[in-house]
Amino acid sequence: MTDTDDLKAHLLAAIEASASLDALDAVRVDALGKQGRVTQLLKTMGALSPEERKVRGPAIHGLREAVTTAIAARKAELEQAALDAQLSSEALDMTLPVDLTPPGTVHPVSQVMDELAEIFADLGFAVATGPEIEDDWHNFGALNIPETHPARAMQDTFYIEPLARSAGDGQSPSSDGPGLAGDAGRPGAQSAPMVLRTHTSPVQIRTMVEVAKRHAGAGAPIRIIAPGRVYRSDWDATHTPMFHQVEGLVIDKGITLAHLKWTLETFLRAYFERDDVVLRLRPSYFPFTEPSAEVDVGFSIEKGKRVIGGAEGWMEVLGSGMVHPRVIAACGLDPDEWQGFAFGCGIDRLAMLKYGIDDLRPVFEADVRWLKHYGFAALDVPTLSGGVGTAA
Ligand code: DAH
Repeated sequence: MTDTDDLKAHLLAAIEASASLDALDAVRVDALGKQGRVTQLLKTMGALSPEERKVRGPAIHGLREAVTTAIAARKAELEQAALDAQLSSEALDMTLPVDLTPPGTVHPVSQVMDELAEIFADLGFAVATGPEIEDDWHNFGALNIPETHPARAMQDTFYIEPLARSAGDGQSPSSDGPGLAGDAGRPGAQSAPMVLRTHTSPVQIRTMVEVAKRHAGAGAPIRIIAPGRVYRSDWDATHTPMFHQVEGLVIDKGITLAHLKWTLETFLRAYFERDDVVLRLRPSYFPFTEPSAEVDVGFSIEKGKRVIGGAEGWMEVLGSGMVHPRVIAACGLDPDEWQGFAFGCGIDRLAMLKYGIDDLRPVFEADVRWLKHYGFAALDVPTLSGGVGTAA
């Protein structure tokens, strides 16, 4: 046996024994790489005499051929084996039963929030948000509800530990008494108790403060709605401790009660999808608006049921008014220059009226049977078929 025969036998055995593509590649480098053993042999050919080359040449080239072919064959085998392994481990069992998890539904309150965003987007309003754990100043003080004001008692507030106290930073909350003195609770005043916001009106404050800051006191036109959760310590057939409101706020130059009325009328007609929605503004009182109005919507009786539209009777749907100059000033805007209107409306009640829900309590009980009945298909994105433009 010649040295080439020895090497050939050795390399072919190594190729056959390679159990993986990586191992095979190591053999390839050892044989045919730059410093490989077969490569080295090929390099010696130049130094051979013509006679020697006649004998050695075919042997060395034959060795290279055999090794190259064997590597290619083994490579194909290993690749096929890898593919077979992948196919068997990833096989789909077509006989398995399908997953019958029922698709969820969109809660009517979420659906209504989406509808509100759609309607008001058509009117040029953006959606604003604020925290549900609010400080005293944003929830009351800046809204012209001083600590002695009876309106505080009107809204049964959930108070919670001030952040400074619960954070345990050693700051004493006691210097302000119970933390309601002056305008404690203003951003930075750590000592006032925090509240679960009792209404969405603090988002008005946050929006105006932000705009006043950004534009150095210039109340750039504001048009926002702020839908969200609010909390009051109340629980009976028509009240739950958590419920939803949507706040509306427009600040600009020369805004009047007429803009408020038109906006509410356009909104409610689009929302209830009826052109015969009639509004009645009743003088009322809110600390943060002057004048203030409660808004009733007319209903009629169809087949013994109340239906929105017409004016056989009235039901109250929201509170509204012209933003009080003190509120505008508290936010850092000049009330002689900037005016506006605001409104606040219960979303759950809007949902109940539109979708025929009689009882408020199951709305938040998360009973899947109720949700299945009143819920909306997940991909049933609200589109206002008529749109605000065509309804007008
Ligand atoms: N914040 C009031 C409430 O929760 C509702 C309200 C009334 C909001 C009049 C307003 C408004 O913005 O102008 O009872």
